[in-house]
Amino acid sequence: MMDEEILKLLRKDPTAFLSGEELSHRLKVSRTAIWKRIRHLRSLGYEIEASTHSGYRLIQSPDILTPSEITPFLKTGRFGKTIHYFHTLESTNSQAYELAIQGAEEGEVVIAESQSKGRGRLGRIWFSPPYLNLYLSVILRPEIPPHQASLITLMAAVAAVEAIEIYSGLRPLIKWPNDILMNGRKMAGLLNEIKSEADRIHFVILGIGINLNIDQKMFPKEIQTLATSLKEETGKVVSRKTFVAYLLQELEKWYNIFLEEGKTAILKSWRRWAQIKGKQVKITSFGETMRGTAINVDSDGALIIETEDGERKRVVAGDIEYI
Ligand code: BTN
Repeated sequence: MMDEEILKLLRKDPTAFLSGEELSHRLKVSRTAIWKRIRHLRSLGYEIEASTHSGYRLIQSPDILTPSEITPFLKTGRFGKTIHYFHTLESTNSQAYELAIQGAEEGEVVIAESQSKGRGRLGRIWFSPPYLNLYLSVILRPEIPPHQASLITLMAAVAAVEAIEIYSGLRPLIKWPNDILMNGRKMAGLLNEIKSEADRIHFVILGIGINLNIDQKMFPKEIQTLATSLKEETGKVVSRKTFVAYLLQELEKWYNIFLEEGKTAILKSWRRWAQIKGKQVKITSFGETMRGTAINVDSDGALIIETEDGERKRVVAGDIEYI
């Protein structure tokens, strides 16, 4: 894309001007075409100085999540090497699902600046206003039996909390199955979607939504006391592009651990971040509500609880509340 190429050339030496003539020669287009693209880049938030005599100079880049903004921070092998970037999508998960059906490779990432139908677990909506947070889906093609797919969710929750810790020093809590909480409020959530046959996974779409720079008062009323963002918790504006790079690095690291070492390391880490053992919980699962003590998470990621009458139950899906 021409914008990316212009930015690449301007970034080479940020102190120097690059003439319109040089740019048009390098990109084999007219100087008017270059000027049009510069105007477009400015409309995206790039501060580009233009001098009639000397040409163009990049002063500052906006915190947008285009591949060219993220790539300089990326230290991964495969994750995020291809980023499909959109200003807006219905849902990054739906887009990634389509791409996966068309043959997209493991590690390809879909990012949108906003979502019009961002999806949460259990049919809920994920609030997705533009240019503030992170809405990202990664395509995975793990060679594991389908019943182990929920371990991918646990793995991703661990990667997400560790990325938050590395970036900010905060230590969030994982709430089963995959909410990420800070001081009791939700900062991030995961939604995995899987296409599989009886004994084979075609692909998993790992969808992650993290509230980064949104202010408390911007959340819809009904979630205002339940949700938070990294900025709210640290008091500092988050560099979203740096954060994405950290997140993709942690995801790739934990995914490789999962593939190479199996589930033990994932479960151990998940249990440490979740500290669920012994907590009193209220569970809503498939319309049924029950109370009990959390015993642990079993080796397939299901929650084991002991109900008030001493019966052990295994919960595979649902919501919990700490009581
Ligand atoms: C939840 O906690 O309910 C899960 C929220 C998952 C939201 C993310 S945002 C990126 C991806 N695309 C979606 O439509 N949903 C997930």
